[in-house]
Amino acid sequence: MLRAPKSEGRLIGALSGKAIHPPPIWLMRQAGRYLPEYREVRAKAGSFLDLCLNPSLAAEVTLQPLRRFDLDAAIVFSDILIVPYALGQKVEFVEGEGPKLEPVRSEKDLARLDRAASEGRFAPVYETLARVVPELPSGVPVIGFCGAPWTVATYMVEGGGSKDQAEARLWAYRDPASFQRLIDLLVETSIAYLLGQVKAGASVLQIFDSWAGGLPNDEFARWCSYPTRSIVSGVKAVYPDVPIIGFPRGCGASAERYAQETKVDAIGCDTSMSLAYMSETLQSRLPVQGNLDPLLLVVGGVHLERRVREILDLLSGGPFVFNLGHGIVPETPPEHVERLVELVKGKA
Ligand code: CP3
Repeated sequence: MLRAPKSEGRLIGALSGKAIHPPPIWLMRQAGRYLPEYREVRAKAGSFLDLCLNPSLAAEVTLQPLRRFDLDAAIVFSDILIVPYALGQKVEFVEGEGPKLEPVRSEKDLARLDRAASEGRFAPVYETLARVVPELPSGVPVIGFCGAPWTVATYMVEGGGSKDQAEARLWAYRDPASFQRLIDLLVETSIAYLLGQVKAGASVLQIFDSWAGGLPNDEFARWCSYPTRSIVSGVKAVYPDVPIIGFPRGCGASAERYAQETKVDAIGCDTSMSLAYMSETLQSRLPVQGNLDPLLLVVGGVHLERRVREILDLLSGGPFVFNLGHGIVPETPPEHVERLVELVKGKA
């Protein structure tokens, strides 16, 4: 199929270092349970994983938020835990409890992971992307993504979410050489996965490092920045022009070195980061994205408006992508999202 040439668009403009007025906006978890039409499709699909692996339904939920709101990007509907699933680890999403995985804790467990089989298991995500791209207006890209190796490893080793990522940290301390093999496998698999997503139509990528903040400073480069940098260089070797956003959640003042060490094109900032740090320290080096507290989107009204204006005042003079500091929560009224988009676009 031939794709019509598309204009650069606002998101890619900002990610290439331009100040765009008004700034582009998309929202982490913009497709999800806060939308009644998502809940409807989700109920039809069966499990969450079934939804991720069903290209027609996954394409539908990817597009749902763009039908309602004037957003500047779609993000392919999938999950960071598709990578462990593709490597053959047992992954389940238990209703009300979140992800459950059969933990990988030893060399023997590592040996069972099957890199060769992963490409075939990624195929439904590529198919979702191929279905989404022709549906998008010119200049509105679809974002592909993966989890950063450290964050994905924490889920693989813990067997699910955890407060402190203790099992992964213990393994990394006790036997760094074998933990490195897990990280290397994730680097290699994630490069292939992101390349596949670009080939299928993604024109921006984001690497989610949700648990970057759990690493002690001395371990940060080895388990967070360097694996991410390897992914960035592996993708750039094939697609030098596809912008990559890094999202090292909770890493505080390590964000600056993260940007230097990983060579990402733009940095996603979490809710805790001060606007002064974002504008003075980060935005002077690279485009920034963020960082409205998703709970202000639950509250709405003047509290939401005040904060949106503060963010715009401090950051919209440079290369900036409006986003949340973490994903939309299910309790969010969709009208508040509509209001947010109007505020950012200056229509309010
Ligand atoms: O709209 C989008 O942003 C794209 C889709 C997307 C999902 N997950 C869908 C999802 C993306 C980019 C993710 C990333 C993701 N997944 C991260 C990184 C970002 C972050 O939140 O820190 C992480 C850590 C995961 C792992 C994950 N997936 C957890 C811990 C959970 C359970 C918590 C929850 O919110 O239910 C999920 C499930 C999940 N991923 C849902 C969605 C829409 C909810 C599942 C449902 O519909 O039942």
